[in-house]
Amino acid sequence: MVKKLLYQFDTDDVPSVFDSVVAYDGGADHVTGVAKVNSENVSAMVDGCIYTRPPKDKMYTGIFVGGSSLAAGQSVFDAIKKRFFSNFRVSVMLDSNGANTTAAAAVANIASTCDLSSKKAVILGGTGPVGQRAAALLSKEGATVFITSRSLEKAKKTVEEINQRFGCDCDALAGATRDERVKAIADASVVMATGASGVVLLEETDWVSSETLEVLCDANAMPPLGISGVEMNDKAKDRNGKKTFGAIGFGGLKLKVHRECIKRLFLSNNTVFDVEEIYATAKEML
Ligand SMILES: NC(=O)c1ccc[n+]([C@@H]2O[C@H](COP(=O)([O-])OP(=O)(O)OC[C@H]3O[C@@H](n4cnc5c(N)ncnc54)[C@H](OP(=O)(O)O)[C@@H]3O)[C@@H](O)[C@H]2O)c1
Repeated sequence: MVKKLLYQFDTDDVPSVFDSVVAYDGGADHVTGVAKVNSENVSAMVDGCIYTRPPKDKMYTGIFVGGSSLAAGQSVFDAIKKRFFSNFRVSVMLDSNGANTTAAAAVANIASTCDLSSKKAVILGGTGPVGQRAAALLSKEGATVFITSRSLEKAKKTVEEINQRFGCDCDALAGATRDERVKAIADASVVMATGASGVVLLEETDWVSSETLEVLCDANAMPPLGISGVEMNDKAKDRNGKKTFGAIGFGGLKLKVHRECIKRLFLSNNTVFDVEEIYATAKEML
């Protein structure tokens, strides 16, 4: 039996243990974690993946790109795909910082709870990897998406990058102070918090009596949570007439999707899992 080999190319100093465990749970027979991978040094390793096995067995080699920086991961991911030609390719997945699987699971849950078309969706602390991917997915579901940041300039730069990559029309709002964040969520139907772990972005009194809010989703799994009044186990929990999701509540789907994508890497040698494909998998599995 040909062994299912997963090469875990990580842009950080140490390959992610989380990604390695999920890789085994997703069905890899052997996982090789490589640290400090960049778009330059990845080429020789890609060659090792694509030239070694005969066509019928190439599907048993897969590549996973991870690490804490989405920008660094994207650049490695692009370099890998550029190295492929003809049938000299293997399946590859990008999930730097868990951004694709986390955003996909969160937005799939939100979209199953409310019709997003033309609704205002605000992502508080949306400049990080999870927020960027969630913005793109909410926008693709038809929502009018805004992200906030402590720096409006940074938020504007981030939405430019998101809009360029995904062909969407996200916008930026000021979010440095509590007052600014409260103003940002006015008239919103959906609020998502994707700020750094332990940073409170919204108090319960800021949202509890909103007449437009339908869904709140908090990606932060470490107390204190990003949105006070939302609990981490919430999964479409009714709170004051709004549905709430916490990081553990939608995190079950995130892990299932991650494992499933790893499993599917080994079904062919030409699968590419970026956020669009991972989101499609999440919606299928929900
Ligand atoms: N549930 C899951 O399965 C799962 C998986 C992955 C991540 N997560 C969680 O999802 C959230 C987002 O992850 P991420 O990796 O995208 O986050 P991140 O990059 O660590 O932070 C997101 C944004 O938070 C802001 N921020 C950073 N430090 C801050 C501070 N001290 N005070 C206020 N704002 C600060 C920054 O935005 P500005 O500089 O623009 O203000 C940053 O871009 C985190 O809470 C993470 O723990 C959950």
